Formats: sequence, C-alpha cells, structure tokens
Amino acid sequence: MAESDDVVLRADNVTKSFGGVTAVDGVALRARKGTITAVIGPNGADKTSLFNVLTGFDQPDTGEVVLYGRRIDREPAWKIARRGMVRSFQTPVGFPLLSVWENLMTAGADQSESLWSAVFRRSRWTRQERELASRADRLLDEIGLGAVKDQRLEDLTAGQTKLVDFARLMMVQPQMVLLDEPAAGVAPSGIGKLSEQVSDMRARGITLLIIDHNIQFVFAVSDYVYVMAEGRVVVSGTPGEIAEHPTVAEIYLGSAT
Ligand SMILES: Nc1ncnc2c1ncn2[C@@H]1O[C@H](COP(=O)(O)OP(=O)(O)O)[C@@H](O)[C@H]1O
Ligand SMILES: [Mg+2]
Repeated sequence: MAESDDVVLRADNVTKSFGGVTAVDGVALRARKGTITAVIGPNGADKTSLFNVLTGFDQPDTGEVVLYGRRIDREPAWKIARRGMVRSFQTPVGFPLLSVWENLMTAGADQSESLWSAVFRRSRWTRQERELASRADRLLDEIGLGAVKDQRLEDLTAGQTKLVDFARLMMVQPQMVLLDEPAAGVAPSGIGKLSEQVSDMRARGITLLIIDHNIQFVFAVSDYVYVMAEGRVVVSGTPGEIAEHPTVAEIYLGSAT
C-alpha cells in the first residue's frame, strides 16, 4: 500500500490533550503537492490546535506527522520552518512600528552567502537586497497593499494586517504553507486578491493547507476539504461532495457564525 509520491504532508492518528481533556483526536490528513487542502469546522473544533502540532509549535501526544517522507512530529518549529513549511497565525504577528514594506523585508529569503562574497563582492549583496526589495514591492502590489506600503503596520486595519502577514510568508518562497484563517476580516476585494495569490501559488507547485470560515472562499480555491468537529475529522471530500453532505450542513452551519 505504497502512498503516492505526491503527498507532501501526512498526519496519522494525531492526538493532543490539554489538562487531560482531549482536543485534537486521532486526526489523519494528507496534503498533496501543488494542491490546496482546506480544514473547516466550527469555532473550537481544534483546527488551530491541529496546525500547532503539525508545525512544531506544539507536540502531539500520539501519532505521526511526516513532511516529504520525514518524521517531523518531534522537531522544533524553527527546524520545520527551515524545511520549507511555514504557517500564518490566526492573529498575525509582526513589527507594529515598522512599515508594511519593512515587515516584508525582515522575512527576507534564506540565501546563503559566503563570508568571501559578503566581504569581497559587495555588489552581489546589493543585488540580493534589490531582488528582495522588488519581491516585496511586487507582492504588495499583487495583494493590493501597494498604496500603504510605507505606513506603519500598527496603522493598518485588521484585514490589511492579515494580508501583510500572508505576503510576509511569501517572501521566504516556501514549499508548503499553512494559513490559519487568512480571509478573516479581509474586505471582499482583498479576498479576491488572496484567492488569486493562493491559486497562483498552487500553479507554481506550492502545497497549501488552509483553515477558514469563509465557505465561499474555501470552496472556490480548494481541491480537497476536511471537516473537523470536536477535534476529529468527521467528513472529507472534494468541495462539491462537502457542499452537498448533509452532516456538514448540520455540524458546520449549525454552530458556526
Ligand atoms: N494550549 C492550550 N491549553 C489548553 N487548551 C487549549 C490550548 N490550545 C487550545 N486549547 C483549547 O482547544 C480548543 C480548540 O481551540 P482551537 O484549536 O483554537 O479551535 P479552532 O481553531 O477550531 O477554533 C479550545 O477550546 C481551547 O480552549
Ligand atoms: Mg482557530
């Protein structure tokens, strides 16, 4: 029963308890290369807790998490990020006093540079910095934040802050991206741009796992959907299958706002 090679992220039997109370409860999921997989479900379904154990921000009690064929469930978050899997947070973090553009530049790319070239080939440094700067400019234009790029992050709306957080992740050119409610609080025009961006990432072979409450957004962009309730995956399928599933309407629409 060989698993197909296109599984980038695999989780099996992932369980996490807090103070003796089971939160994430035996979750299994797959994210395939160059696809968008969504995790939906009501508030408190443990979606964010699941992201935490997938990305090393928390350790699961049982189960395994495998990225590109390698067990990562005992690795620290920083190491997982350096393996090319990055995540956003439901409530974004950033540098409030820095400009939007500067926030992106702090995320810069991990381009190794020898001491030799740093000292003796200064022009190469500036070329790299120019490349990062133009990447930041392009990302901000594409996501519709070009006009506010010189404003301090603290002066932006919550929705704009989410888009900055997304663009900051894109600066590191990741292979696998987990987004925790990227559309929450974002204006409709911003959601359109976000949809274009994630679809474009998929076309470039990047693998995405997205939690979101915005069902229109989720169904429009995703290839496969997992529905969580009370820490478990209760149903999974294509957006078409999920949209028509009676249990989903009951579980999800019954308690989500
Ligand atoms: N570190 C923690 N300690 C204790 N309880 C936690 C912790 N993290 C999450 N929880 C609990 O897990 C439940 C689900 O939270 P969460 O994963 O944020 O759900 P969702 O993202 O689906 O809305 C919440 O009731 C929360 O209290
Ligand atoms: Mg959450």
